[in-house]
Amino acid sequence: MNNRPELPPEIARRRTFAIISHPDAGKTTLTEKFLLYGGAIQMAGQVRAKGEARRTRSDFMKMEQDRGISVSASAMSFDFDGHRFNLVDTPGHSDFSEDTYRTLTAVDAAIMVIDGAKGVESQTRKLFEVCRLRDLPILTFCNKMDRESRDTFEIIDEIQENLAIDVAPASWPIGVGREFLGCYDMLNDRLELMDRTDRNRVAESVKISGLDDPQLAQHVPENLLAKLREEVEMARELLPAFDQRSLLEGHLTPIWFGSAINSFGVRELMKGISTYGPAPQPQNSASREIAPEEKAVTGFVFKVQANMDPKHRDRVAFVRMASGHFLRGMKLTHVRTKKPMAVSNPVLFLASDRELAEEAWAGDIIGIPNHGQLRIGDALTEGEALRFTGIPSFAPELLQSVRAADPMKAKHLEKALMQFAEEGAAKVFKPAIGSGFIVGVVGALQFEVLASRIEIEYGIPVRFESSQFTSARWVQGPKEKVDAFINANKGHMAHDHDGDQVYLTRLQWDIDRVERDYPDLTLSATKEMM
Ligand code: G4P
Repeated sequence: MNNRPELPPEIARRRTFAIISHPDAGKTTLTEKFLLYGGAIQMAGQVRAKGEARRTRSDFMKMEQDRGISVSASAMSFDFDGHRFNLVDTPGHSDFSEDTYRTLTAVDAAIMVIDGAKGVESQTRKLFEVCRLRDLPILTFCNKMDRESRDTFEIIDEIQENLAIDVAPASWPIGVGREFLGCYDMLNDRLELMDRTDRNRVAESVKISGLDDPQLAQHVPENLLAKLREEVEMARELLPAFDQRSLLEGHLTPIWFGSAINSFGVRELMKGISTYGPAPQPQNSASREIAPEEKAVTGFVFKVQANMDPKHRDRVAFVRMASGHFLRGMKLTHVRTKKPMAVSNPVLFLASDRELAEEAWAGDIIGIPNHGQLRIGDALTEGEALRFTGIPSFAPELLQSVRAADPMKAKHLEKALMQFAEEGAAKVFKPAIGSGFIVGVVGALQFEVLASRIEIEYGIPVRFESSQFTSARWVQGPKEKVDAFINANKGHMAHDHDGDQVYLTRLQWDIDRVERDYPDLTLSATKEMM
């Protein structure tokens, strides 16, 4: 079902999406199965970091140290059902919400994974709200149906009420927990049976002609069959029917039930993405909307990852292609610096391997190794001075001052901090008065991760200490007014890594006062990255 007939086939077959979920719902397991079906990996188990304490702090840092894992998982491409899937990873930890928001600017759809026993959890809800802001189409996968889970109607009601979105069942589970047999495919009138003997085996699919087909009784015990018939009848009466347009507009989410670990329901979900999911969508810029089918190549950086290879101080900028057909070696214009940039070694991430990307179409994600020129929000074009909009940078919610244990290392520390700032991992402020730096993050755990990375990647042990400030606001306004403001508030002023002026304070009262006393200035909690 091609939802944008004007697109050339190469673009129309692309599906670029992210998975949103609460930790533990099964995102990693589902990703693994996607790659398995996409032929990108031979055996499940290659994506996941081993060990039961995966998500503990120390392990998280180990994962960060072992850059291989997070890197290959940042963006992955694979083929399925004649479609090219680009799966962009959203960092799992709730502390990294800002990074996650930015990731969601690079995708056309999201898969929401929920745990059948737990329903909609806090992190899912937060991420859902971000998707809603952008009207992203959402496809839902209710996981862990092989365990005791909630009643199907209850799960659907909870999503509808909690997230205010219509939910259309694409499949209907038969039995729960130990009795879970498989699903009735409501869109294709098929019976999908789970194989409990081999977790990697694709489910058996039985074509039937509706719920009255006598074949059903051969596969489903009588008591479950009666319940299935009754429930499906009720669902058809009471719940919205699937409608592709409503999905694409973000008003309705189809839900598939399954068990990622048993490879069950995953293929149907993938078919759902390829059949009904959005093709690459137009992107917004300050001057105009960029259509994916435009001939000229354009793209924007939504993520920068540094030190992927500790031996080289290189970085990879992840670029979402917004339009055109990119060929390796092309000379593009780096709009912020107005300099030409020959993109000769772009990489495409095929599961755990990096490969040179010979070509890329609108919708694809490529990685461009560089020495720091490319920053989050930067545009690459064939000459047009575009500025993509909607890539947010948030005011940090926690501020701490940082210093090197060895004062001789202060210069090195500055370099390390600037790099993390460019990567978007933290905000770094250099106060106008005094030495040292103030680092701002969105979640407390980030301080620990930063300290660990600075020590490992730069060999500088550092200490974070509480700062006298708790809030940061970017100051904007006519130059002479800004200058007057800075002069009168030196003790509160700092600049960020782009050189922009920032007002630091402890009190909301201060912010209110500035807004009252300086009506020509705006104190902004966010700054659009460009
Ligand atoms: P996440 O990335 O969303 O945090 O979740 P992840 O895939 O790591 O899954 C979290 C836990 O849930 C894992 O168990 C995983 O094996 C389990 N799981 C995933 N899908 C299913 C499913 O369909 N059914 C059942 N019963 N469990 C599932 P763990 O014990 O934390 O890790 P591990 O020891 O299995 O590696």
